[in-house]
Parts: sequence; structure tokens; C-alpha cells
Amino acid sequence: MRTLIAANWKMHGNSSWVDKPAEFGSILPQSKREGVDVLICPPALFLAAMTANTQGVFIGAQNCHHEDKGAHTGEISAEMVKDAGADYVIVGHSERREGGETNRAVQAKAASACRHGLTPIICVGESLSQREAGEAEAVVAAQLAASMPEGETSIVVAYEPIWAIGTGKVPTIEDIGSMHNHIRKIVGKGVRILYGGSVKPGNAREILAVENVNGALIGGASLEMDSLAKITQAVAVSS
Ligand code: PGA
Repeated sequence: MRTLIAANWKMHGNSSWVDKPAEFGSILPQSKREGVDVLICPPALFLAAMTANTQGVFIGAQNCHHEDKGAHTGEISAEMVKDAGADYVIVGHSERREGGETNRAVQAKAASACRHGLTPIICVGESLSQREAGEAEAVVAAQLAASMPEGETSIVVAYEPIWAIGTGKVPTIEDIGSMHNHIRKIVGKGVRILYGGSVKPGNAREILAVENVNGALIGGASLEMDSLAKITQAVAVSS
């Protein structure tokens, strides 16, 4: 299974950032990142410009609507994301779930993504109080059951404990390992399971070595190409 290093830029960047895949490619050419898929998810405004010059980096969106078209001001459909040349879309990020996005909405978005040939990255993860109450595994199982599209195997799951996102706090390696084993039992063999939440060059190697961690979803540390390259190098092989 190829490792997926996915950058979630969130609401950062401007039009000059469309050159960042080229910058990334000059720091870490494809020959030095064998076995790794690198993905950048910029703000939707930059998708089309970025897919025009990818240097072997995959491009994805951070969200999509579940319908193909209609009176939905400000939304973009999975079909539009695909038409812009992207290959992936993040759905159900906790920052969007906080804004009211339900499991059912996430499931509908992921199904729409699959219908249009995109790979959805379905985000799940517990809050700090849920972890402290010993409910983390049950919460994640329930989120997965309700937000994975039925019968679709071309999906990616990202486990992102909410309390680890943007905080510098990371679960123990044992906790990451047991949650990823738990998720593996639910999603089956072929699905890549990413870990997300305060992944940085300094902890990437240890996290990415954990069984059933098939990649990372990275926010803050993905904005600088140097840092994204260092994280990629933690798993990359040179040819
Ligand atoms: P972070 O964000 O790496 O800044 O913690 C991860 C994410 O939200 O996907």
C-alpha cells in the first residue's frame, strides 16, 4: 500500500502559492519520493491553477457539496472539483463538523465524490472529553459506520483526534497504534488510514512507522514546502 502524505492548507495562501508544487518538486524530486503519494489540498479558488502544474503532486479540495448542481450559493460540487483536475477531496474535517456537518452529510459528500471519480478522505476523531471518558474507539466506530459511503472501497480514512489538531499535542504512539488497528478492523484491508493532528518533521518518522498508519494529514506543518518535504522523506525511498 502506497503511503499518502496529504497537506491540508485550510484557509491559507494566495495566488502565488500555485507554484508551491514546483517548489516542492525542486526540494524533493519524484525520484527521491518513491512509494509515496503526495497530495496538496489548497483553497478551492486555486485548484484549477494548481492542477495545471503538479510536478507529480496530487491536488485535492477541502470540501464539496453532495449534489451535482443547484441553488446552493457558495458551494462547489464534486463534479466541479473533478473538472478542475483534482483527484481527492477531504470530507468531514472536524473544523467543518463543528460548523454543523453531520455524519449523513459527510456520507453523501463522500458518495458524490466517488461517483465523480474522486477519492474522498473521510475524517473522523474524538474530542478530549470523549477520550478521557474512554469513548474514543466507540465514537470513531460510530462516525465511520455513519459517514462511509456504502459499497465504496476507493476511499481514504483520516483519524484526527480533535484535541490534537493545531495544538502541538499528539496521542501516544500506543494510542495511535490501537486506534488504527481498531479502524483497520472496521474498514478492511484496502483502505489507507491516515493519522492527522500536529504531525511535524520532528515526529513524522515515529508516527508513520506505526502499523496501519498509511500516511498523514497535515495542516500547519504543510504550509512550508521544506517542512512538507521533510515529513515526506520520513517514509520516502530514493530510486
Ligand atoms: P495540524 O492540522 O497538522 O495543524 O494539527 C491537521 C488537520 O487539521 O488536518
